[in-house]
Amino acid sequence: MTTPPRPEPSRPGLARAGSPAAPGESSHLRLTPPRYHQGRGAFPLARKIVLSYSGGLDTSVAIRWLAEHYDAEVVTLTADLGQERDVAAIGERAKRIGAVAAEVVDARDMFVRYFVYPALQAGALYEGIYPLATALARPLIAYLLVEAAHKHGADTVAHGCTGKGNDQVRFDLAVTTLDPALKVVAPIREWSMTRDQEIIYAQERGIPIPVTSAKPYSVDANLWGRSIEAGVLEDPGQEPPEDVYEWTRAIDGAPAEPATARIGFESGIPVSLDGERMDGVSLVHRLNTLAGLHGVGRIDHVENRLVGIKSREIYEAPAGVVLFQAHAALETLTLTRDAARFKQAVAAEYADLVYNGKWFSALHQDLMAFVQSNQRHVTGEVTLKLHRGSCRVVGRTSPVSLYSHSLATYDTGDAFDHSAAVGFIRLFGLGTVQQARIQSLGLTGELPRLPE
Ligand code: ARG
Repeated sequence: MTTPPRPEPSRPGLARAGSPAAPGESSHLRLTPPRYHQGRGAFPLARKIVLSYSGGLDTSVAIRWLAEHYDAEVVTLTADLGQERDVAAIGERAKRIGAVAAEVVDARDMFVRYFVYPALQAGALYEGIYPLATALARPLIAYLLVEAAHKHGADTVAHGCTGKGNDQVRFDLAVTTLDPALKVVAPIREWSMTRDQEIIYAQERGIPIPVTSAKPYSVDANLWGRSIEAGVLEDPGQEPPEDVYEWTRAIDGAPAEPATARIGFESGIPVSLDGERMDGVSLVHRLNTLAGLHGVGRIDHVENRLVGIKSREIYEAPAGVVLFQAHAALETLTLTRDAARFKQAVAAEYADLVYNGKWFSALHQDLMAFVQSNQRHVTGEVTLKLHRGSCRVVGRTSPVSLYSHSLATYDTGDAFDHSAAVGFIRLFGLGTVQQARIQSLGLTGELPRLPE
């Protein structure tokens, strides 16, 4: 494994790298150049399609449907992003169904390093609340699809998204950005089969139907969070039933004793938990377990999808909720007021960009350049208390803290120059006072006054 190449200003992409991200390292990655552009003649066999395969009913049926419908060979790609499924077994299933090859990739480290942690540094919460677990995973899967397409000489990439969601936008855009020559097909968006028709289709062709206890929800999961939709959740007035949650305990079931977690950051990147240094995958995994146990990480949101629909979403993101809070707390010590204020606008822009499927874009690089620079002093530790669904910051320290006890204290040792305050206020308020004089504000003036 080599170290990641330096970011290329003109073309966002991914570099495969095994070394841990240095704090402050750019998240911009480079894609290896396409290797299959020798024209169709170089691949005289059947057309080839690389399908993003989750192992569920839709994409299982899609393996055979694509092969029949497009007279193609189908290669599947299954990425382990920490969704806690047996991805090797899923790959085997793909071959049994008829895939000519099944790529299985452990992409957890790439996911945290290049997608999750940069978004955390940016403070990217869509609509101020959604940590973007699903949205951040899509460009990585798209990247892996493109990589697999190049490896297998495929001219088409396929995914299992419907025509109503954000994910189709993210896949289509990311794939086309990374390799405009690739075609993208979305079989579920194209066929008009109901779930029952899919099952019949599968039975007629001997496609093993994945044994899932007919779940009443649509779920997407990875290390950064679970996204749950559909069924009874579609009534935003109703409290979600307890069975939507798998990672977080109900308040009643959470331990009576609180837990504390101490998170160490370097340049805005989490590097340790309770003093123990660890890689991102382990840290997020451990925090998911700990915070989930204490009922922390449930998010219930009515969200504005890119396609114009309002949609009720339930998320579980125990580690995400803790880390966003901890990170923000550390920023209160280490960023100046101006930097913190400006960063809010960048955070919102970054979250929208990720949500809207523009991860591979020059604007992303530009925003990330700001974020990396802005985060260079966000180093220190934050202690949080987790208890029965709540997560509270109870302490923060930093070797480069801008907090000065001698400036802040009301006790002995006060170093703040009180006499300077008088002149400061005079100049700070000069414009307002001048306006009051000339335009008669104040008790008898026209603006603003108490109601009569
Ligand atoms: N609304 C979220 C997003 O667009 C999550 C979508 C997750 N998909 C699912 N099948 N639950 O990022």
